[in-house]
Amino acid sequence: MLVRVAKQDVRLGMYVHAIEGSWMDHPFWRSRFLLSDQAQLDQVFASNVDYLVIDATRGLDPTQFSPDPEQGAKAQDRPPLSARERITELRKATNTIKRSKVAVMGLFEDARLGKAVQTDSMGPIVEEISQSVSRDPAIILNIAKLKTKDEYTYLHSVAVCALMINLARTMGLDEALTQEIGMAGLLHDVGKMAIPETILKKPARLDEDEMETVRNHPQRGHDILSASSGVSETALDVCLHHHEKMDGTGYPKRLPGKSLSLFARMSSVCDVYDAVTSQRPYNTPWSASHALQLMQGWEGHFDPEIVDAFIESLGILPVGTLIRVNDDRLAIVTGESPSDFTLPRARIFYSPDRGHDEPLLDIEVSRNRGGWSVAGIEDPSDWGFPDWKRTSRTIITRKSH
Ligand SMILES: [Fe+2]
Repeated sequence: MLVRVAKQDVRLGMYVHAIEGSWMDHPFWRSRFLLSDQAQLDQVFASNVDYLVIDATRGLDPTQFSPDPEQGAKAQDRPPLSARERITELRKATNTIKRSKVAVMGLFEDARLGKAVQTDSMGPIVEEISQSVSRDPAIILNIAKLKTKDEYTYLHSVAVCALMINLARTMGLDEALTQEIGMAGLLHDVGKMAIPETILKKPARLDEDEMETVRNHPQRGHDILSASSGVSETALDVCLHHHEKMDGTGYPKRLPGKSLSLFARMSSVCDVYDAVTSQRPYNTPWSASHALQLMQGWEGHFDPEIVDAFIESLGILPVGTLIRVNDDRLAIVTGESPSDFTLPRARIFYSPDRGHDEPLLDIEVSRNRGGWSVAGIEDPSDWGFPDWKRTSRTIITRKSH
């Protein structure tokens, strides 16, 4: 559904289908895109355009939502927690994860037994996860990454809930919608209960029949949630479409990106990120910064604008990012601290004085005063690195002395 919206009523999370007027009146080289960051929105406000056409099926529906941009305060805008507050939050978040896991296990067990699931009782759980995310997303997300193989399915649901809430806030969506998206994340994999445990926990590659059973879980989940009361359209949509891909090669319906809602596209990024960074029966986990680097490169899988918003929401620099450190030397991100994924590891390789003759030095960014810090994220082309992908690979694989 296309809706004509006055410039001043446009909000983050809306999908711009067309911009009225000449291209000279606005700074966007594309006319169709998701408004996912404040800088884009400011450009819309500052342009000479009076009206935009918004596609309500691909983003926020202007007729239903008019989020107050002040409402979705970003985690990045809040001051960081003190050391003492971090310890308190670590304890609280651990308890939240434990309670959430028990609640999800109960709900999934009902689904496994073929009963209608009671989603009402999950509201306070989503609220608790949401509060922890708003205090410090890195803490609860770090804990949610530590799953044993047995608890993977349940804690994956909790993690996707937390990731979706964090992403929704970064995109400036309003709080009521953010909670609804969080609930959708918590329920998205309920159809896994229709898959026999022998397949779910198989420590080897699945055969074609087993794969077919797995590919059916979004539809089975949708059936379970449809038969339950009080489940939102968003949760039904996310459950059915979280494995679809932008190029139409996903499952169960092989829908192309233009048919996927904003929420489905958000869920696919959060779902894959948590899966690849967690210990699973058949795979060792990737580090967060490595996962983001690879996900950025998967052409046709995700909506690239959502991937960018997701990276911003986590505050993690993907491997290969060019940064300037606090003494103005250039470094390349090589990973992250295992205890706090928001602190990158990097390799210094270039200085303004010595250029490429600067000896390689591996560093770890820290919170301590006097330690290494990131002074800026740099554009490789501004520094004359034309083929950054290749250059970065060479620097990362070179031996340091
Ligand atoms: Fe799934």
